[in-house]
Amino acid sequence: MIKTILVTGGTGYIGSHACLELLEAGFDVVVVDNLSNSKSDSLSRIEEMTGREIQFHLADLRDEKAMKDLFDGEQIDAVMHFAGLKAVGESTEIPVTYYQNNIGGTANLLQAMAAYGVKNIVFSSSCTVYGAPETLPLREDFPLHAVNPYGQTKLTIEYMLRDLAASDPDWNISILRYFNPVGAHRSGEIGEDPLGIPNNLMPYITKVAVGELEELAVYGDDYDTPDGSCVRDYLHVVDLARGHINALKKLDDNPGLIIHNLGTGRGYSVLDVIHAFEKATGKPVPHRIVGRRPGDASAVYADPSLAEQELGWKAKRGIDEMCVDALRWQQQNPKGY
Ligand code: NAD
Ligand code: WQD
Repeated sequence: MIKTILVTGGTGYIGSHACLELLEAGFDVVVVDNLSNSKSDSLSRIEEMTGREIQFHLADLRDEKAMKDLFDGEQIDAVMHFAGLKAVGESTEIPVTYYQNNIGGTANLLQAMAAYGVKNIVFSSSCTVYGAPETLPLREDFPLHAVNPYGQTKLTIEYMLRDLAASDPDWNISILRYFNPVGAHRSGEIGEDPLGIPNNLMPYITKVAVGELEELAVYGDDYDTPDGSCVRDYLHVVDLARGHINALKKLDDNPGLIIHNLGTGRGYSVLDVIHAFEKATGKPVPHRIVGRRPGDASAVYADPSLAEQELGWKAKRGIDEMCVDALRWQQQNPKGY
């Protein structure tokens, strides 16, 4: 029985929501994070909310000695592997750092897991591995293609996990391909806390909605979509976190390597998201149409039916709830953690 979970990147946005769901589902949680893109306050808040303790290791996955010490000191049954660098633009500026951190860190983690006989892992992959989609909705068996260094690291890690599963049938590996995670826990206690000015749509809009940033630049209204702005599959982060619990439970059946999309299956345009935010705040969101952002696909959304069939998971929260929860987090924590 899987009982104690090592959550890598557990102080970060998605990892922290997963920690909360894990504790509420009765698992014990150990976190490792180097705090390169997060603060440990997320864990203190989760401990307060749940009355449960989280063992926190401040360490880098690339540090072999630290990983050995961690596995020596803890009895781990499975790993949820969120740790990684994730900014697409930055990955084109410092690609080697992305390869070193994401691929090197994962290789080191897997070696440590093998050495200690821990062979259950859930990995954070991304819809970016499908590249620019030719057919929608995206299914897990569609061709894979990286379009930037960040995506290349996710794809390479997927291949590494595939080879690992083929080499040793004792491994149970769940690859989850997330679409666009947004929102926050409804308590407003944990949420997305990006450093500096956000790159992604939802954290940017929330800051415009509370007046911290002046206006949103909408990257293009001349795409081949119903209103001309890009369409994405936005997914509430709590639904996403819960998907990880379903995947983890599936690993108990010794499935070998399994791959699932986690999305709602429904696409919303940038303008739809702006309107949903306006509904949440009751005020207009100042925005201006500008040119396209290089590298953006016009529409991306999942076929999430395999996750429903095989994991018994389906996203429950809609766009309005995503906006209301993102806004609550921003209003309660104007400066983040
Ligand atoms: P995040 O930056 O909030 O969390 C990642 C965490 O990993 C951070 O706390 C960071 O400090 C830590 N970390 C990075 N490198 C590390 C290392 N070498 N050793 C130890 N800790 C390290 O990002 P997130 O949005 O929570 O994303 C979590 C995972 O999900 C990432 O792997 C990301 O690529 C993937 N993902 C995210 C999205 C998204 O839109 N947020 C979409 C698809 C996939
Ligand atoms: C969403 C839409 C923009 C900001 C990224 C990664 C992907 C995955 C999910 C990790 C796009 C538009 C944005 C702004 C805008 N992450 N936009 N003004 O690019 O779909 O996906 O996160 O794996 O790999 O690429 O997300 O939030 O950046 O953009 O108009 O200020 O909002 O053009 O259509 P994206 P995003």
